[in-house]
Amino acid sequence: MDGVTVIDHPLVQHKLTIMRKKQTSTASFRQLLREISTLLCYEVTRNLEITTERIETPLTEMDAPVLEGKKLVFASILRAGNGLLEGMLDLVPAARVAHVGLYRDERTLEPVEYYFKAPDHMADRLVIVVDPMLATANSAILAVERLKQQGASNLRFLCLLAAPEGLERFRHAHPDVQVFTASIDSHLNEKGYIVPGLGDAGDRMYGTK
Ligand code: URA
Repeated sequence: MDGVTVIDHPLVQHKLTIMRKKQTSTASFRQLLREISTLLCYEVTRNLEITTERIETPLTEMDAPVLEGKKLVFASILRAGNGLLEGMLDLVPAARVAHVGLYRDERTLEPVEYYFKAPDHMADRLVIVVDPMLATANSAILAVERLKQQGASNLRFLCLLAAPEGLERFRHAHPDVQVFTASIDSHLNEKGYIVPGLGDAGDRMYGTK
């Protein structure tokens, strides 16, 4: 699908299979999410711009590659986004972090913002929005809208699983935002869960119901 990158690295796919299993414990799920998010982060940052810096090694001077521009932003959609965040920060510890808190209004089923905090200079930074599950895409669409209102114009969206319905809605709302995912699953069920999926990512990572 246009604008969508499926990260089919064998390690990602193997870890994802263990995460999907219903008997996988909370502790294992959390550990695997941390490991997989590091691998996903590696792929989503693969084509970052590089410049050079004059450095001295113990032997000589050289022009050595370094990341160009301002520090990245990882924008976590609460609460499940935080599960991806930790592994990504292991890989890019200097990244800045934005948090977008949304809950679903039980009457309208629409997402409502309850928290928003983002670093400054959003217009000058690459923003990688993270949420493990791109299901209906309601939250993802709103989160990206809010980040754009804050000045962000260079964004990517990273998830673990995506439903075709959510992908289509998200791509329609934000055609400029490339989506990275480990899998495009079959469909959404009537309750908005991804099938075959892995259940509720937040519940599985935090041991709630
Ligand atoms: N959110 C989840 O955690 N799981 C789904 O299947 C859909 C949305």
